[in-house]
Amino acid sequence: MEITVSASDNINGTLILPLYEGVEEIPEECERGLPQGMKSQINRVLADGDFKAKKKSTMSLIGGEDGKVILAGLGKSSDVSVHDFRKSGAAVFASIKKVHGNDFTVRFNEAGVAHMAAFAEGMMLRNYSYDEYKMKDEEETDAEKQIRLTCSEKEAEELSTLVNKYRGITKGVHLSRDLGNCPPNDMYPEVFADMAWEWAKDFDNVDVTIINYEQAIKAGMGGLVAVGKGSSRKPCMVIFEMNKDVKGRCPVLVGKGITFDTGGISLKPGANMDEMKYDMGGSATVFGTMEALAQTGHEGKVVAITCMAENMPAANATRPGDVIKGLSGKTIEVLNTDAEGRLVLSDGLWKAGEYDPDFIIDFATLTGACVVALGHEATGLWSNDDDFRTEIHEAGNAVDELAWPMPLLPAFEKEMTDSKIADTRNLGAGRYGGANTAAAFLKQFVPNRDYDKDGEQITWAHMDIAGTYWGAKSNSMVKNGATGVHVRTIHHLITNR
Ligand code: BES
Ligand code: ZN
Ligand code: ZN
Repeated sequence: MEITVSASDNINGTLILPLYEGVEEIPEECERGLPQGMKSQINRVLADGDFKAKKKSTMSLIGGEDGKVILAGLGKSSDVSVHDFRKSGAAVFASIKKVHGNDFTVRFNEAGVAHMAAFAEGMMLRNYSYDEYKMKDEEETDAEKQIRLTCSEKEAEELSTLVNKYRGITKGVHLSRDLGNCPPNDMYPEVFADMAWEWAKDFDNVDVTIINYEQAIKAGMGGLVAVGKGSSRKPCMVIFEMNKDVKGRCPVLVGKGITFDTGGISLKPGANMDEMKYDMGGSATVFGTMEALAQTGHEGKVVAITCMAENMPAANATRPGDVIKGLSGKTIEVLNTDAEGRLVLSDGLWKAGEYDPDFIIDFATLTGACVVALGHEATGLWSNDDDFRTEIHEAGNAVDELAWPMPLLPAFEKEMTDSKIADTRNLGAGRYGGANTAAAFLKQFVPNRDYDKDGEQITWAHMDIAGTYWGAKSNSMVKNGATGVHVRTIHHLITNR
């Protein structure tokens, strides 16, 4: 799909007309260049109340010589937001059929540049399907769709700039979805690492370092090794550094990358286990965010660390009862091998301290308990800094990706540090508050500044995306599968600081 901006009055192909609720005829502002037949066809539908322009609604008018039209509902003009425009754009894209052809012209009415750009963003985000593994129909040549956004001369430049930015960010979102949707027989730690390596070749300002299995053992990454050693696909850590020569502190992103989570020796039940291919969603979020930043020419320094492993049961797999020690030097009593995300992250978080972070954010499909608490509607958000947590919550709101504040209570920390034989335990004492105990566990592995044992802990946030990374039926930016959530949130957070 190619989106261009034009100040011309011409209508090419199918007209897309976003409208506010209550409009009974075509707004004057939209009439330029519309053939008479098309105008009367639209006016008839509006006057008869057949199209009410409710939020996310669409109606297709295919009227022979009068041309083709897609009407798009924005809801009431009094309470319309950029989010409604984005959702409308996505709904329009989802409604496009073969009969509409490949050329489209969007004609807005009383919309600011930010709103028009959001509409285009919605179209771009929704323009995604994962069909790598489907046989292609030779007959069906998928010609690229051409979308022309029409606006006034004076809006054109600003609109183009915004659309270009969203195009770059969308590439990041789609990369995250591609990684998440890829079946686990083809997406394992080494494949992810190779992809990152190849990807970085396209950018002069990004370096990728791979810490392979042997190096991880030597370095003392006991958490990563404990989780990944039972698989024939060995674990690794992948580190992305963007603009590494820029001086000063930088954001460090950390991602859980379990390419498949069987639960290990604490084997999961069989039903829906296939969904555990999405358990590398945190690493996909981080990789996708780096792509979005690279595509939009971000000039600041950013580091991302992904902890890649496959959690398998095997003769040499970690057992419940094992005590392990990772980079931090703290020991962990492994009481359940299915609580593996926190083990790999314990090394990723500790490693993050080496990059003088301004802040650390980790992303993880960490707990079923978070899905119980928030469903597929919001990501769980914890932080050791209330202001920082609010900042992330607001960045999420700004792009309509909800991240909901959750409590990091001392009682949960106590629960996770009262192992009889080790410094920490990877399982709470009871079954309640599982998403909170997981966050409290992670906090034990967030280093202090300069690893000074008496120093201040680095500002850190944890985002549990177990419910939002996939299976979110109410997310109108995606048809099914991986959502690519929070690439936009974090791009917004980092580029608006
Ligand atoms: N990957 C799962 C969490 C998960 C569950 C993600 C459902 C997406 C959907 C994680 O590794 C896990 O198994 N967590 C356990 C932790 C428990 C053993 C303390 C869980 O949530 O049951
Ligand atoms: Zn698990
Ligand atoms: Zn997991």
